[in-house]
Amino acid sequence: MKPVWIQHAAQLATIAGKDAPRKREEMSDLGIIEDGSMWIEDGIVKAIGTTEELKKQFGDRAEEADIIDATGRLVTPGLVDPHTHVVYGGSREREFEMRLEGATYMDIMNAGGGIHATSRMTREATEDELVEQSSRRLDSFLKHGVTTVEGKSGYGLNWETELKQLRAAKRLNENHPIDLVSTFMGAHAVPLEYKGKEDEYIDSIINDMLPVVAEEKLAVFNDVFCEVGVFTPEQSERILEAGKKLGLTPKIHADEIESYGGAELAAKVGAISAEHLLKASDEGIKLMAEAGVIACLLPATALFLREDAAQGRKMVDEGVAVAISTDCNPGSSPTTSMPLVMNLACISMRLTPAEALVAATMNAACAIGMEAKVGSLVVGKQGDVVMWDIGNYQELQYLFGVNHVDKVWKKGLLVVG
Ligand code: NIG
Ligand code: FE
Repeated sequence: MKPVWIQHAAQLATIAGKDAPRKREEMSDLGIIEDGSMWIEDGIVKAIGTTEELKKQFGDRAEEADIIDATGRLVTPGLVDPHTHVVYGGSREREFEMRLEGATYMDIMNAGGGIHATSRMTREATEDELVEQSSRRLDSFLKHGVTTVEGKSGYGLNWETELKQLRAAKRLNENHPIDLVSTFMGAHAVPLEYKGKEDEYIDSIINDMLPVVAEEKLAVFNDVFCEVGVFTPEQSERILEAGKKLGLTPKIHADEIESYGGAELAAKVGAISAEHLLKASDEGIKLMAEAGVIACLLPATALFLREDAAQGRKMVDEGVAVAISTDCNPGSSPTTSMPLVMNLACISMRLTPAEALVAATMNAACAIGMEAKVGSLVVGKQGDVVMWDIGNYQELQYLFGVNHVDKVWKKGLLVVG
């Protein structure tokens, strides 16, 4: 593989700084180098600086490299999507229509649709079919500048299918250019066959599923849908504490539809992140800031469900590290566009353009434990890079709803453009 030498970037937004969740004004520091240049070799960033500086260092090796003229272009780290349900079977466009006709998300779920509908279609799909369908979605992520993705199980709701989803994710991680980090989410819903016997299903998650997930290293994180009518905070805590004992780090779908103590629980169990938080209480936000829980906010989901977005501005101001994500899933957010999510983080949550970019890179990487490898462009990290067909980071958020990706490299290999 030839080295890649990017030269003359109008703005090279390195996001250099600490590999840890960025808070408050740290979220505004993009580490911009003007007339920026970087040398990527063996998949790793080997040097980064101004074009003049790198010419001194690599001038005599120019012929070995693919030279990329980034004049007039913005260059950033590959985006990181820290919350998706990318591995699933089927599709749910009819439910989108039903919601526009007046049904609510929870009405549909309680009538056996929603997550249960995707669960049926995922149970019916073969592992190969799941890999094939999800691989196309990962291709779309790449085209939108996303090079690292988290993916959850949770459409099996029985061990056989949860395992099939986790195995499909493992194969995708191995065979697709994108790094796919797995989360186990057996507690995404109570399967219909356990209605009225919720605690039996929770026992089977704790006693049968979690030990195998941990033993076979099928996931890094353990997530729960803590929501009225799904799992109570007490049930969620049991499941998350059981996972913790096995080495699985907690995440929580918290306070999405109703205020339910999810943010408070995230602080209590020491979750790495709490997701959604549309209805998080003021007290919950304060406790998350104190406990260092990352708020993973999903403004495309709020838009798609026609709800008000989470209080992103308030969370940043109160010292919560904010990450953003597509939530890519067939029910509440079928998008793969992190650029759109950055735009919405500005438009509907009042993050600044710089904060939105940090939320989609370093803070997103921290939310899935990948900050040592991705999330910023510094010497020694993966050569995961996006060149955008625009000149500065403000334009990235201002010219909204348009895909400005020009080229994408994953571990130094050109994968788009
Ligand atoms: O994050 N809220 C729960 N889970 C997903 C939606 C899953 C679905 O509708 O299929 C979410 O929004
Ligand atoms: Fe989700």
